[in-house]
Amino acid sequence: MRRNISLIFILLFLVVFSSFAQQREVKPVQLGLIAEGLYEILEGRGARGGAYIGDNCVLIIDAKMTKESVEQTIAEIQKVTDKPIKYLVNTHSDGDHITGNRYFPETVTFIAHQNCRQELFHPSRDGKPSDWAKPELAPFLPAITFRDKMDIYLGQKKAELWYFGRGHTTGDAVVYFPLEKVAFLGDQIFVTRPQLIHSYKGGDSFEHVKTLTKMLNTLEAEKFCSGHSDPVDRQTIQKHIETMKTIQEKIKALVAKGKNLEEIKSEFQENEGRLVEAIYNEIKKSIRNGDDVKKSLGAKTLLLPTPVWVIGSYDKEGKPNVMTCAWAGICCSKPPCVMISLRKATYTFGNIKERNAFTVNIPSKSFAEATAYFGSASGKDVDKFSSTGLTPIKSDLVDAPYIDEFPLVIECKLLRTIELGLHTMFIGEIMDVKANESILGEIDSPDIEKLKPFVFVPGSRDFYRTGEYLGKVSSLAKKFDKK
Ligand SMILES: Cc1cc2nc3c(=O)[nH]c(=O)nc-3n(C[C@H](O)[C@H](O)[C@H](O)COP(=O)(O)O)c2cc1C
Repeated sequence: MRRNISLIFILLFLVVFSSFAQQREVKPVQLGLIAEGLYEILEGRGARGGAYIGDNCVLIIDAKMTKESVEQTIAEIQKVTDKPIKYLVNTHSDGDHITGNRYFPETVTFIAHQNCRQELFHPSRDGKPSDWAKPELAPFLPAITFRDKMDIYLGQKKAELWYFGRGHTTGDAVVYFPLEKVAFLGDQIFVTRPQLIHSYKGGDSFEHVKTLTKMLNTLEAEKFCSGHSDPVDRQTIQKHIETMKTIQEKIKALVAKGKNLEEIKSEFQENEGRLVEAIYNEIKKSIRNGDDVKKSLGAKTLLLPTPVWVIGSYDKEGKPNVMTCAWAGICCSKPPCVMISLRKATYTFGNIKERNAFTVNIPSKSFAEATAYFGSASGKDVDKFSSTGLTPIKSDLVDAPYIDEFPLVIECKLLRTIELGLHTMFIGEIMDVKANESILGEIDSPDIEKLKPFVFVPGSRDFYRTGEYLGKVSSLAKKFDKK
């Protein structure tokens, strides 16, 4: 009986041990075809990599971790080409991408971003010194480094190495094959599990978002291979960026509410803990450093800048009046319309209701004082035309006056009135725009440099003149236009 029990125990031990061993079993390296002459290096011990068969040599992306996996990699490549392995690009400094360098022949040239090479000498996360400082490993360190971009020609074929900024680490290279429109990103994207950010190496989630966005805007890649998941398309990268932003915003909001790390972690899935901690620490650090973080200012009309218009109207008796208005703008092209929002307390409000018309007068900077005055005195109490010496001219199209001295005026017929609350929005259809010839540009439209209008800053209640020329909209847009 006792012998039987022991036998059962031994059998049980063997079953448990063999299933454990099976779980840890590493499948042999194999190649997965991505495009003609371009493969993913799959399985083995270490992250996924890549192999590009050029016209005269082979370029490898990332190095696996063990001698066995490197030997299998070389053997698999030899099955598809007899060209020599000349280059090995390390996408970044993590052990599962770079440890295997040492098992490749010394004839291979190792290439990486300059920060990746530096990171190799940093102690590991648990403070252990790096073994890359050992002299015997020197031949397997990246011998060539690059800063922003590097091209590697393999005969006619070309691989581009790009650096778009910090993210997963500080030295993440993108290996891009323009002919095949395929990019290898290393660990710059995790698809099936939360993104890893190595803060201890200088990685940063906020920079990661910027870096990936820049990458998408720069490369015309259609397929993206990475260290730990199947290849993905552009939409998946875009979705990943959005997910990262959502997580960051949620953590920011919780930090703003005074929640601590443990409380914040409890609002996320358990496997997101490391990412949450990295983001939390970045936010806390930026607050400590007094960095430029967004502060909620509340639901206020703090828009920058607003226009400065002077509204002309007649009262019941036909007395001309003007008031300054900043809650204003163009609101329709066909029919051409503008909108102005006035408080009922203004004299102009009653005038427009009475006459169903108003004019918009655009002041040049020489009328800044008069404009400020039109916004502080009321037509109920004073005649603003006589106090400033400006001249009211009766419009021949609408029942309202415009200011003769102002070089750009717009005559409007009241089209619609919308009650909003403190302000009532008057929508006026533009019947005509009148401009002094002296402010016209080449194409018979007002020239901002000649008119010299100014803008209003609601928070500080200042006037500012309009600034320097930035460029034509069509040429500025070209920066992000791929075609
Ligand atoms: C720069 C500036 C912008 C203004 N914008 C508005 C506005 O959009 N709506 C409004 O009701 N009052 C606005 N005001 C206040 C009126 O211009 C002010 O109450 C004026 O005295 C009204 O004149 P009135 O009573 O003769 O119509 C603004 C004042 C300034 C100085």
